[in-house]
Amino acid sequence: MIDGVPPIPARELPVAVRAPGKCIVFGEHAVVHGAPELVFAIDLHTQVIVRASSELRLNADREATSRNPYFRSALELSWKDRPPIDVRAVSRIPRSAGLGSSAALVASLAAAFGAATGGIDRPTLAQRSFEIERGAQGVGSAGDTTAVVGGGFLAVNGGAGTPLWTVSGPDRTWDVRRVPDPGWVWVVAHSGIPRSTGDAVRAVARRLEAPDGPELLHEFSRVAAEGIRAVGAGDRRTVAELLGRNHELLREVGVSHPRLEELLKAAAPAAEGAKLTGAGAGGSIVVLPVPGKETELVRRLARAGALPFVVRPDPTGVELVEPAHPD
Ligand code: MEV
Repeated sequence: MIDGVPPIPARELPVAVRAPGKCIVFGEHAVVHGAPELVFAIDLHTQVIVRASSELRLNADREATSRNPYFRSALELSWKDRPPIDVRAVSRIPRSAGLGSSAALVASLAAAFGAATGGIDRPTLAQRSFEIERGAQGVGSAGDTTAVVGGGFLAVNGGAGTPLWTVSGPDRTWDVRRVPDPGWVWVVAHSGIPRSTGDAVRAVARRLEAPDGPELLHEFSRVAAEGIRAVGAGDRRTVAELLGRNHELLREVGVSHPRLEELLKAAAPAAEGAKLTGAGAGGSIVVLPVPGKETELVRRLARAGALPFVVRPDPTGVELVEPAHPD
């Protein structure tokens, strides 16, 4: 076991798995270019059950490999030349919302396939989940999949101490370190506007090629590095300020959206700090509520037309659900 992160043990089919979503507190987009990121696994989950079957299906769909690139990529990278399976997936994580629904599906499949093929340790699972997601998306960092695999608060390319693991991509690596959970309640709210992570990542990459790109990336890194320190130290006031600064930077690189700006405005009287979270261009915001005003905050966001969730960190990450019922 690595630093309290247990492996996924070997199991015969049927195998049931659940995986949390994720919320990026600091550093999305910049992490794709090697800057630090702070992310935590949230207590909204995807559950997947994999059974032996006479034909390959995902949620009763026999054409799922052509319709779902994440499913296709998972099969190619970790269930190649194996017998057909029936996969059921249900999720409380809103899709295309910046809250890790793809990473949760990918990590669930990788964990279930790993369990069914002799077990898998977490660093290997983190690497494989990243490769599956990257295979489906074509771009992106290891941040989302690592959060879902590791659970709790994680610093990617930042923080102090020995890395839990390192994930390697085609053009860079990401070190992952644990950050202590300050024990706060967070609120995330989905705008209802779907977006494509790949498109947003490519647009930001183009924006960072402008003459002020290196300066912007430097500021993203400074904010995330300070944010990681402040969260680890339980320093709410600094975290709140840095959330605002990180949002300004994300706006500057073009991934805010008028609806996100409206939601941030609606949240403001009950928020200590807030920003968009995930790829942006739609998707969700994350808010650190004024203590005692959590309910008011949720009401404000719902009244503004968002889908709000009060979330806490999921400390475990992807795990087997036992026993897996055969039907
Ligand atoms: C998306 O959840 C986070 C991004 O930084 C992309 C990535 O890290 O893969 C925008």
